[in-house]
Amino acid sequence: MKKIKTIGVLTSGGDSAGMNAAVRSVVRTATYHGIKVFAIMRGYEGLIKDEMMEFTRRSVSNIINLGGTVLKTARSKEFMTKKGQHKALRNLKKHKIDALVVIGGDGSFRGAHELCKQGIRCIGVPATIDNDVAGTDFTIGSNTALEVVLDAVDKIRDTVTSLERIFVVEVMGRECGYLALRAALAGGAEEVLMPDIKFDMNDVCKEIRTARKKGKVSWIIIVAEGAGKAENVARIISKKTGFETRVTVLGHIQRGGRPSVIDRLLASRLGAEAVMRLMNGESDKMVGIVAEGVRATDLCCSFKANRDRDAGLYKLLKILET
Ligand code: F6P
Repeated sequence: MKKIKTIGVLTSGGDSAGMNAAVRSVVRTATYHGIKVFAIMRGYEGLIKDEMMEFTRRSVSNIINLGGTVLKTARSKEFMTKKGQHKALRNLKKHKIDALVVIGGDGSFRGAHELCKQGIRCIGVPATIDNDVAGTDFTIGSNTALEVVLDAVDKIRDTVTSLERIFVVEVMGRECGYLALRAALAGGAEEVLMPDIKFDMNDVCKEIRTARKKGKVSWIIIVAEGAGKAENVARIISKKTGFETRVTVLGHIQRGGRPSVIDRLLASRLGAEAVMRLMNGESDKMVGIVAEGVRATDLCCSFKANRDRDAGLYKLLKILET
């Protein structure tokens, strides 16, 4: 197996909070092991246009707390073509880049898979607010986005209860209802409409009318963008129930903000893991975290705190610091 001397790192697709923490982790883990790192700007666009520069440990100081991505990002149409991919390969060879860490979502990983077919070692780090990537319970940025949505829903609840109205709140997520369902559960919403689960607006309106007769006066209905436009949902509800309905489309504020603790930790762990996997000769893979699920523990075991569990995280801290 050829030892890796130089790796490239890029962020691609929609930005998400925690991407910077992932970049920091990749750069610091790689340099800790004596590997040179090229930061590639604007995702695959930067690969095609040869927009890249060497990053040192210092280059990623003071970015762990920032939303967005210091590497910028793009959705490259040219990279989807063979011609674009050849240009990218030429630039990778020019800088003697042996391997790539691609931080992004499913579209970005399709691109990385194409590069793998051309002999470039790639590992994906999942980062998108949508949390719609298979092979990981969580993507970097989805927790922060959820906090943003929940904060908005809590605020909307103040006016909903004061004016006794129906509010339809549209959240992002492409074809995935992750944000909508979690925000609905955590925010105590009355209804959630999402692409993954069939719904009938006649039933939704019937439920509202029945509950109104019993004295219920306010509703928050969360709509995942993949399930339809909040505007249309509100129009149907007010037409079929006669109740005053308002709409809030949260839009791109869901992508911004200070990354949450969960996203920073996830990004730090997955960035480091991606580099380790490349060093071990792995490629054409995505690193992820798989642990979600409720389980039971014997009560007698719950008395004994597991003091060893933080050893791995402490080791990582020593690699990423300064
Ligand atoms: O994939 C992230 C995401 O924010 C989706 O939730 C949304 O549908 C899309 O990107 C919006 O993309 P753009 O920023 O290009 O409008």
